[in-house]
Amino acid sequence: MKSDFKELVSWSDSEYSSLPWRHNRTLYTTLVSEIMLQQTTVGTVLPKFQSFLDKFPTIESLASSTDEDLREAWQGLGYYRRAVNLLKACKDLQSTDSFPEDETELQKITGIGPYTASAIRAIGHDLPALAVDGNLKRVLSRYLEDFTPYEKGLDDSLRKLLTNKEFSKILTQLGPRKVNEALMDLGRVICRVKNPLCLTCPLKPNCKAYKNATQEKLPVRTKKAQKLIDLNLIRFISFNEQDEILLYKKNDKEWLADQWELPTVAINPEDSFKQYPHTQLKIPNSTPLKTGITKYRIYNYAVKHEPAVVHKEIPKLAEREHRFFRLENLPHISTATVKILKKLKIHE
Ligand code: ADE
Repeated sequence: MKSDFKELVSWSDSEYSSLPWRHNRTLYTTLVSEIMLQQTTVGTVLPKFQSFLDKFPTIESLASSTDEDLREAWQGLGYYRRAVNLLKACKDLQSTDSFPEDETELQKITGIGPYTASAIRAIGHDLPALAVDGNLKRVLSRYLEDFTPYEKGLDDSLRKLLTNKEFSKILTQLGPRKVNEALMDLGRVICRVKNPLCLTCPLKPNCKAYKNATQEKLPVRTKKAQKLIDLNLIRFISFNEQDEILLYKKNDKEWLADQWELPTVAINPEDSFKQYPHTQLKIPNSTPLKTGITKYRIYNYAVKHEPAVVHKEIPKLAEREHRFFRLENLPHISTATVKILKKLKIHE
């Protein structure tokens, strides 16, 4: 086992030591990166991480930020609730003035859950722990051939590794930080959900799933994956004569409350979908931008129209908070709107 993990860490070091959160690390930067990386890909976090830290270089600067500043810095990272957790954690940490090493103590900080606590201990403090995210679940359930289902406590079962003498020794010798991050790298690029690249895997020599060809059966999930529903949306791109773009604000009862969005309609949704007004317009002939939320796989079609036409298509728009914005001065816009404006090269 030891030689496998040694190989793993040197592979990760040579390929991924340049990830920005692995430089000039502090407990605060670890907290920021680990919260950013939850439910989000490395590629999404990469361009945002440094600018976020430039804006909020310390716990205190983040703890005293306004909601508006935080929203702006978080733009493009999605799931704003995570930023709210980060803010709560910074407020707590500022008042207690310490960063506990113990996972139970860490979890007493508002906004820090079990995953973040283990990541702070293992990656921030470099102390023995396993930050069991989706990557670690996949890699370790395969390596150990652990058939415990996700829903029946796979994470607890994997954490038992910490009580294994051989593994504990390896973790201490190679460093908990390096081992955890190397396992994450492996899960992201080699030990993939489908078509894992086993032949190039440093853990191959002692991987039980590889030996028994069970890798694609692991990790086990008992619940069936939720079936995705296709949804076609038209996103209207509409400028006034001053070259300002028309946006409307989402309300508390909708997805993405308080964020601004391009005026949007749904083309003949399959279910009783109420997030957007329905339209009889046909699916446009252009290539859509794909996004997703909850159980919906969304195809976004950008369509340019005069504001008057948009108001005719969406009569209710007039009753909602809507405005024209200069492109240099956009409010907090939804991630889908950011992506569409970027794709059309209307806005960075
Ligand atoms: N996913 C979660 N934390 C990570 C990290 N520190 N490096 C790479 N991927 C991660």
